[in-house]
Amino acid sequence: MARETDRQAASPPPEGERLQKVLARAGIGSRRACDDLVASGRVTVNGVGAVAGQRVDPRHDLVAVDGVPVPVAPGLVYYLLNKPAGVVTTASDPGRRRTVLDLVPATPRVFSVGRLDYDTEGLLVLTNDGELAHRLAHPSHGVAKEYLVEVEGTPGPGALRRLREGVELDDGWTASAVVRQVAPGALRIVVHEGRNRQVRRMLEAVGHPARRLVRTRIGPVSDTALAPGRWRPLSGEEVGALYAASAEGAGGGRRQARAAAPVGAAPRRTGGGR
Ligand code: URA
Repeated sequence: MARETDRQAASPPPEGERLQKVLARAGIGSRRACDDLVASGRVTVNGVGAVAGQRVDPRHDLVAVDGVPVPVAPGLVYYLLNKPAGVVTTASDPGRRRTVLDLVPATPRVFSVGRLDYDTEGLLVLTNDGELAHRLAHPSHGVAKEYLVEVEGTPGPGALRRLREGVELDDGWTASAVVRQVAPGALRIVVHEGRNRQVRRMLEAVGHPARRLVRTRIGPVSDTALAPGRWRPLSGEEVGALYAASAEGAGGGRRQARAAAPVGAAPRRTGGGR
């Protein structure tokens, strides 16, 4: 007995945290469900198939489910902000206008994923997860962004066709977009690029400038209950879905992604407004 106690005292504590606990904390599911995921071979750690009971270092190990990275590092935060008009997306503004960082908690320091113009309203993700920000901002990932826009006049079939098929801007042709007229002067537009003032420039090019532009969806994330100026944390499920959407785009699954999320389909909505 005394020898067993000596041996326990001599052996170092097991390193890292249990994988199923880390996955559960990241919002993948209950510990039991995460155990099942590991057992079914869908989880990898640093590219190698995970095994039951494995321990990981969440700060350094790359954990993935079905090949999609899971953000497991401690201290990562993800906010969904409904940006009002009249707020800049930069971290600081020389003109001392209000910035999006004034609307979310000051610590930990976050940055916006992409940007919305000063006058554009709607959904913006802010995070300190550089990997997600990089994936969502990178053109090859092409995550769908949906906008509701009030335009001047009523675009006819020719203008709508041009918006859908591609418009020549001063930085090149736009990729095809999904465009639906929802009222005489109102369009729902889904683009997969993130060029500067892209939607406004597309509409100017076809002679129907935007009067009001609102982003209503980023990939799988939307929230019609989040009031302008308010934010809420993204759920682990939503963060996972954003990672998955960015992986789809990079893998050439853009057409699939479009088919899976047609304009007008009710996007998944989670959480409540703050
Ligand atoms: N397209 C625009 O023109 N402006 C935005 O803020 C976002 C997309």
